[in-house]
Amino acid sequence: MVYQNILIETSDRISTLTINRPDKRNALNQATRDEILHAFDSLQTAPDCRVLIVTGAGDKAFIAGADISEFDGRTALTQREAMKGLRVFTAVEEFPKPVIAMINGFCLGGGLEFALACDVRIAADTAKLGQPEINLGIIPGGGGTQRLTRLVGEGKSMELILTGDLIDATEAKAIGLVNDVVPASQLLERVRILAARIAEKSPIALRMAKEAVKTAARMNLREGLDRETDLFSLTFASEDKNEGVRAFLEKRKPDFKGR
Ligand code: COA
Repeated sequence: MVYQNILIETSDRISTLTINRPDKRNALNQATRDEILHAFDSLQTAPDCRVLIVTGAGDKAFIAGADISEFDGRTALTQREAMKGLRVFTAVEEFPKPVIAMINGFCLGGGLEFALACDVRIAADTAKLGQPEINLGIIPGGGGTQRLTRLVGEGKSMELILTGDLIDATEAKAIGLVNDVVPASQLLERVRILAARIAEKSPIALRMAKEAVKTAARMNLREGLDRETDLFSLTFASEDKNEGVRAFLEKRKPDFKGR
């Protein structure tokens, strides 16, 4: 597939997916969603991709939400039809490798929902975040009411969703919505350092860790603990576990092969 709306670049075991519609503040239209789904599918099995960074082209926006022009004239039925099939947000959440949202500007509506589906969120100090759907007479439909609430609690989630107000990156960090805020000029470097640290780990352990943490929101404590035991035990089937343990005992750095 030749991509028109996204860019993919891979180096040093880190892939970067850039939404490339800067003139439209990287708003997600259907064509872009289809390309993202295709890219996630390909990167899933790409051995040279151990960590994925998602960002937006230009210095104004990460993603300014769904492409509002596609809502014009849509009925409830056609909208429901358009939302059938695998959703981008689910593909991000279920991607078997860590995904870092590099939030370089407006991160609104479906853009914030995209970031919420990622595993770690790092924002530039210039970023603005929010769920402004209420201003269009609609509500978040890409998981915002659920993932935002799980991440920041019902009170803050309600406030953001009911007012549609945008918050800056510092406030986003204070409420736990982003992991860190860095000066815009250092964003890429800081995110790549983080990605490189993660890319050194065992891809198998990363996959199990991501799955185990994700179950915390889906299962009760007892089920979650059982799932964690299963996934923990499964890492013992990997060569990487032998390498990690041996490297520690031999006082050297492990070299994880992903086997
Ligand atoms: N869908 C479609 N087009 C969008 C868009 C979106 N979500 N967000 C921005 N754009 C387009 C604008 O229509 C404009 O297109 P044009 O140049 O053809 O007129 C272009 O991107 C630039 O947007 P503009 O508003 O001029 O830029 P800005 O820097 O002044 O403001 C935003 C940026 C993001 C604050 C503003 O565009 C905005 O509020 N967008 C909508 C956000 C939203 O409600 N998202 C939730 C959708 S459910």
